[in-house]
Amino acid sequence: MSTKPTPNNAADCGLVQLPRIEDPRGNLTFIEGGRHIPFDIRRVYYLYDVPGGADRGGHAHKQLRQLIVAASGSFDVTVDDGRTRRCFHLDRAFLGLYVPPMHWRELTNFSSGSICLVLASAPYDETDYLRDYPGFLAAVGSDRWTFRS
Ligand code: TYD
Repeated sequence: MSTKPTPNNAADCGLVQLPRIEDPRGNLTFIEGGRHIPFDIRRVYYLYDVPGGADRGGHAHKQLRQLIVAASGSFDVTVDDGRTRRCFHLDRAFLGLYVPPMHWRELTNFSSGSICLVLASAPYDETDYLRDYPGFLAAVGSDRWTFRS
């Protein structure tokens, strides 16, 4: 897989409303790659048993696209494209946060017992990560950012 960065304006970062089948026996949400999210699903992983006060993320991806869902509980995701920083509180299993390539993300404030489900467009590839924030800013050609809530 090529690790050339993809321009970060290829598709907008933001919340995606997922289908919800309400049922007195319990609700159901489904996600089809290419239909509800703008990529084919090549990998699924999830974070769980996150200790109180722990943070995850702290990196960007050169090409990977992801949908992040609070399958249970809640947490915050701060997404930064090098110019604008936005914070999303995820607490509904029918809402996903689409994160395009070249967006720095930080996951914080995990509630007890929360589960962070992530759908990804490619298999795990460490060379696709940018784990150094100044290096990320240099890669997107930015030296400043603003905050949007
Ligand atoms: P990382 O992506 O840094 O975690 P997060 O962003 O959720 O805080 O991954 C943590 C470790 O897990 C790292 O050593 C790589 C490994 N890992 C895999 O082996 N496969 C995967 O699909 C993922 C997401 C991580």
